Amino acid sequence: MEIRYELLPKDQQKSPMKDETRLGFGQIRTNHMFLADYRGGEWHDPRIVPYGPFSLMPGAMCLHYSQAIFEGAKAFRHPDGEVRIFRYDKNISRFNLSAETLCMPEMPEDLHWEAILRLLDVEREWCPSIPASSLYIRPFMFASQDSLGVKPSAEYLFCIMVSPSGPYYPGGFSQAVSLLVSKKYHRAAPGGTGAAKTGGNYAASLRPCEVAHAAGCAQVLYLDVNNTMIEEAGSMNHFHVLKDGTFIIPEFDDCILTSITSSSVLELAAAGVLKARQEVVPLEGFLEGIRSGEIIECGGFGTAAVISPVGRYVFENGDSIMVGDGTPGKHSTNLYNLYSSFQSGQKEAPMGWMRHVPHF
Ligand code: PLP
Ligand code: COI
Repeated sequence: MEIRYELLPKDQQKSPMKDETRLGFGQIRTNHMFLADYRGGEWHDPRIVPYGPFSLMPGAMCLHYSQAIFEGAKAFRHPDGEVRIFRYDKNISRFNLSAETLCMPEMPEDLHWEAILRLLDVEREWCPSIPASSLYIRPFMFASQDSLGVKPSAEYLFCIMVSPSGPYYPGGFSQAVSLLVSKKYHRAAPGGTGAAKTGGNYAASLRPCEVAHAAGCAQVLYLDVNNTMIEEAGSMNHFHVLKDGTFIIPEFDDCILTSITSSSVLELAAAGVLKARQEVVPLEGFLEGIRSGEIIECGGFGTAAVISPVGRYVFENGDSIMVGDGTPGKHSTNLYNLYSSFQSGQKEAPMGWMRHVPHF
């Protein structure tokens, strides 16, 4: 399908921030976004237009029943000055899995690829280059039909916006975060939407996250509904590292998002680059492992957060347990350095992980 361009005249375009050290996460908007409409069982009018407000009816179903999904990905400025996007094929397929879970139409892979490559081409000057920076990519889709019956919408809007970003946590990799071990709040239940990237999961996480902040923690460590197994670390997959350097990631199930970062770490392990595997992780055994020194490092994996060390677990009664000396350990540090060097182009990434953004 041909993509239509409706670009802002050059003299009305904003310029990127000069000082990239001041970039936070997801705060800055660029000049353009990609849009496509779904109605009558088909996608219509794919277009790159100025970034700006949508016009929505008050009865738009997303506003009432939260039929909405999104993805998170990153593009990087490489030393040759070119922009490359990291493993976006994975985001495209996970987006369509989320769409299936939420009874939404599929976004065809070829249209999605064309959309992101052309948008990144138009917005390439916004891709920062300093370490730990990226052009964060946020594709999303929501129900736009004006109808109050609880059923899948017949109309949708698909959008991609991008945002030059620095680290997700202000302290970046070097500052380990704390997690609140919550037995009161849960993120997902078997048979629910936990494995989909849908807004409702994040809406439900806001209050627990506020409670975590009040306890001095960055995020919640979510357990399964029986409070026995570790599921996720807020908006990251959880990991821990054994004394022999093996990374352990909880087994994916319908309560855990299949993280592209975790999957990449597991692929590196399969290629013999490091040791990593998935297991069901019982909370009590995990805490005992920290106490005994069998577990030496912990953290979270995610696109926004990359690899974020966890230095302390805080319990709802105020007690806490420190991991090692509470600072980022050598295995997490080595992995962070390796992973970031693939993304930033300092090292050649495994085959197919980085895709060049063409100059159309
Ligand atoms: N788990 C949740 C709930 C998330 O929101 C994210 C972020 O995308 C992740 C895990 C990490 O997934 P990925 O590495 O694909 O970004
Ligand atoms: C990501 O890591 O890309 C996410 O989507 C996490 C969060 C900002 C919601």
